[in-house]
Amino acid sequence: MNVDSEISPGARTADEADEATAAANVQTLFNSIAPSYDKLNHLLSFGLDRRWWRATARSFRDVLGRPEARVLDICCGTGDLTSALLAERPTQAEPVTGLDFSAEMLSRARTKYGADNAVWLEGDAMQLPFADNSLDLVTAAFGFRNLPNYANALQEIHRVLRPGGQIGILECNHPEGVRGVGYNIYLHHVLPLVGGIVSGQRAAYAYLPASIARFPRPAQMKAMLTVAGFAKPEWDGYFLHAAGLYRATKA
Ligand SMILES: C[S@@+](CC[C@H](N)C(=O)[O-])C[C@H]1O[C@@H](n2cnc3c(N)ncnc32)[C@H](O)[C@@H]1O
Repeated sequence: MNVDSEISPGARTADEADEATAAANVQTLFNSIAPSYDKLNHLLSFGLDRRWWRATARSFRDVLGRPEARVLDICCGTGDLTSALLAERPTQAEPVTGLDFSAEMLSRARTKYGADNAVWLEGDAMQLPFADNSLDLVTAAFGFRNLPNYANALQEIHRVLRPGGQIGILECNHPEGVRGVGYNIYLHHVLPLVGGIVSGQRAAYAYLPASIARFPRPAQMKAMLTVAGFAKPEWDGYFLHAAGLYRATKA
């Protein structure tokens, strides 16, 4: 299979022709799986998700340690990366904003983490409600892959970051070579089966492996970051390269 020919310019749950319909379907999907999302996330990642959120937050300690830094976590879902970012903030620091367009996911974030130095905002990551050059760090964990147009999403994040501001995207990856063989079995057989049974939402857990398979590979994502105006794009692979952190700086 020529994987490159399958790479998507943005998320599609079905073969939607337009981005607005694709985004609306993603929103419906996350509202429907919100009740079982946390449980399945921990189960399907063998508990590694918590370690990955913490590792991502730690890698931005320089900016998080500045009390005045303005931080936004897009596609925050039930708030776990937002909470990991908050754990690295000094006392009296500016709050961290968690933004998501799924009311069901966001309401769980509010219940789990309250409003203690977090601001929970219902909004679209493709049209961020922030001024140009106003933020110091924008992150996303396992959410960027679900956006309807990756190039436009990077441009939107670039717009709201200050010069010198940083982007951090923690995302699933599709390991290549020998690692990819075992991973493919897990991704295309075990994950949809377990996810579908536990959540009762089989279509949602069929979309998940397809979205990972169609997501740009690290070299392609780094090239897209450069095109969007970011400098020094890097990718740090986590656990057999099943996931990894993209980071770059607004030049
Ligand atoms: C896989 S979940 C990740 C949640 C959380 N960051 C985590 O690490 O568990 C993806 C999230 O992205 C959100 N999302 C997808 N497209 C979005 C968009 N255009 N604007 C805002 N949120 C979006 C979904 O509603 C969902 O909560």
